[in-house]
Amino acid sequence: MILVTGGAGFIGANFVLDWLAQASETVINLDALTYAGNRENLASLDGDQRHLFVQGDIGDSALVADLLARHQPRAIINFAAESHVDRSIHGPEDFIQTNIVGTFRLLETLRGYWSNLQDEAKQNFRFLHVSTDEVYGSLTKDAPAFTETHRYEPNSPYSASKAASDHLVRAYYHTYGLPVLTTNCSNNYGPYHFPEKLIPLMIVNALAGKSLPVYGDGQQIRDWLYVKDHCSAIRRVLEAGTVGEVYNIGGWNEKPNIDIVHTVCALLDELRARTDGHSYREQITYVTDRPGHDRRYAIDASKIERELDWKPAETFDTGIRKTVHWYLENQDWVANVQSGAYREWLEKNYTGRSA
Ligand code: NAD
Ligand code: TYD
Repeated sequence: MILVTGGAGFIGANFVLDWLAQASETVINLDALTYAGNRENLASLDGDQRHLFVQGDIGDSALVADLLARHQPRAIINFAAESHVDRSIHGPEDFIQTNIVGTFRLLETLRGYWSNLQDEAKQNFRFLHVSTDEVYGSLTKDAPAFTETHRYEPNSPYSASKAASDHLVRAYYHTYGLPVLTTNCSNNYGPYHFPEKLIPLMIVNALAGKSLPVYGDGQQIRDWLYVKDHCSAIRRVLEAGTVGEVYNIGGWNEKPNIDIVHTVCALLDELRARTDGHSYREQITYVTDRPGHDRRYAIDASKIERELDWKPAETFDTGIRKTVHWYLENQDWVANVQSGAYREWLEKNYTGRSA
């Protein structure tokens, strides 16, 4: 069996669902169920004996040690993190606690377990750390995309905390020989994406008749990858990646934010037209920029392509269409995640950002 952390969040839930759709191997899913964790993402697994959900913190060493001893997983895939840049600007503390201290405790607990394993189990064990391209900082317009050896230059409390966790993972390999793998991926999108991030926020706000808040001039560039392609890349790295190595994962799909918002509007115009016949584009509002906003991220994914023969299956056109369809078909999920805490977040982040 495998142990997945953060498997009730956006990418983790997609990973668990995809894993169990293709393999018979049981998943222990350890998730603290923060605001971003949602059992509803895993509702289709209710009653499935291959999914063992445990509510808890990666930093709870006693709990993690007990899970490892009892279930003896052959791998850990670490998704658990605080993941939203804007929240890290408003309150970095949780990011330091989970992404740095939590990862450290998880590694330390794992070290105790792994060092006592017998030869084969010890050799075959893998700790796969899921990280982000944001650790590399911001690129100028024409600079080459991030490779695995790009200098770390994180600019937000989120990316700094992820960078710190990557360094800890690296150190546990070099110092203790822990069999680690690290992946640094670009921006994901797809089903179960919490509507605080750009794409789901735009879909949800558009349908609710609210404004579509574009930060600054909307010309910031991100590389976008459909979440299920990220999941397939992680499965591939787990299966064939070289211990101690880093793999960048991306979609070769750089786009300015405003183009993303225009695409979402065009799809909604086609699939769920406004009753007044106007385009959703009319709801776009340019608002005050994010402090320290990284201008451009771009991933050079040639290493994983070359060494592990992985490529994304979706283009942006096919992935974004699937995503908009999913949100239109899952309006109950959307309604259920819009709790009081969610509304408070919108208030905190968007009120006072002058148009
Ligand atoms: P998310 O915020 O949707 O989910 C995070 C999950 O981790 C939640 O279910 C939450 O309850 C859980 N969690 C938080 N703190 C925890 C703790 N202390 N112990 C146990 N569980 C805890 O995040 P996501 O978008 O699914 O991202 C997953 C991972 O992928 C993160 O490590 C993130 O840095 C990385 N990543 C995300 C993206 C992206 O575009 N979303 C891109 C590249 C890398
Ligand atoms: P986000 O989804 O928060 O991901 P990240 O900051 O990790 O890349 O944001 C993606 C881009 O969209 C980023 O450049 C910020 C921008 N953005 C907006 O313009 N408006 C918004 O309301 C949000 C949430 C993001």
